[in-house]
Amino acid sequence: MRNISSKEYYNTTMSMLLLGLNLVTTVGIAQQKQTLKEAYNGKFVIGAAVNEAQFSGRDTLGAMLVATQFNSITPENALKWQSVHPKPNQYNFEAADRYVAFGEKNHMTIIGHTLVWHNQTPRWVFQDDSGKDVSKEKLLERMRDHITTVVGRYKGRIKGWDVVNEAIIDDGSFNQSKWLKIIGEEFIAKAFQFAHEADPQAELYYNDFSMENIPKRMGAIALIKKLKAQGITITGVGLQGHFQLDWPSIGQLDSTITEFAQLGVKVMITELDVDALPQPDWTATAEITKRFQYSEKMDPYKAGLPDSMQQVLANRYADLFAVFNKNKKHMSRVTFWGVTDRESWLNGFPIRGRTNYPLLFDRTGKPKRALEAVLKVAGNP
Ligand code: XIL
Repeated sequence: MRNISSKEYYNTTMSMLLLGLNLVTTVGIAQQKQTLKEAYNGKFVIGAAVNEAQFSGRDTLGAMLVATQFNSITPENALKWQSVHPKPNQYNFEAADRYVAFGEKNHMTIIGHTLVWHNQTPRWVFQDDSGKDVSKEKLLERMRDHITTVVGRYKGRIKGWDVVNEAIIDDGSFNQSKWLKIIGEEFIAKAFQFAHEADPQAELYYNDFSMENIPKRMGAIALIKKLKAQGITITGVGLQGHFQLDWPSIGQLDSTITEFAQLGVKVMITELDVDALPQPDWTATAEITKRFQYSEKMDPYKAGLPDSMQQVLANRYADLFAVFNKNKKHMSRVTFWGVTDRESWLNGFPIRGRTNYPLLFDRTGKPKRALEAVLKVAGNP
């Protein structure tokens, strides 16, 4: 028998540990009466944003949790412009192809996220060779090429697309992005039109955060009405659902769902998580470029979430799902922005390096009290 190196020994030990952890977690899940997707079967599909480690199977525990608990997936980053189309004539579909294959293997509702956004989009998209803004015609041509190529590649396989992400700001006006400045408001209608041409069967969504606040909601309602009046195909609106313990109120959320449903679009929660940590200030929304300074005070649960807070979080989730359940006839999907607390983006946003607890499974993949609470609500009519 050959001697194994300390690295090999470490790797082997780690694999065995992970395997053990998997078994423990599998048993833990088996003890749960139901899975999330079973509990909400017939009401709405239950999704999760997945990262590359999960959909490629490298994170075996994560992949297993996704496959057992959820019946829809959204790619956390793999289909964003910078991931699939990093350079002018270079598309890179390796990760995205694996993402779609994972969803098909598990018979899931596969979502595309996102086609037109001001973040995670390379600078070259808006510039010519000398670094100046491109013309409106050129930018529309690039947008069309991107949408036609990406949506076309997964035609009939990706069920719905977040076509435009976050075009409106808190006061209800349009975000002064390069898309808006170079093309004008029409960029939104054009994005939907190109997506519809590329896959006429695909569902097409407008996706944004904080639409529970009235000024922003009014802006989004006006936009959807205008698109519909122009004959543009828009199937649904995605409320991202990056929520806090005390925001939005249940009343705010309920009327937001109702008002969008009245426009004749499907309503879905597309990026649900509940931030369990202190908020820097009220402007801390989900705009990913907005960051605040770290301090110990803002990171109070490094050693674990106290029992009392687990319960607060569970109650909050129960209240949120009670609203979704009540509005089930208007809602097609509730998607969480991640699977376990370990890989949630909220450990790094809006303050880097904190320990956050926003999801239903803890850092080792074990069900939290919040999961039990969400399952319990599913039992209500
Ligand atoms: C986030 C991802 O979770 C991070 O991994 C990435 O670094 C930044 O983007 N609104 C959206 C999502 O529509 O795409 C964002 O995802 C979170 C806010």
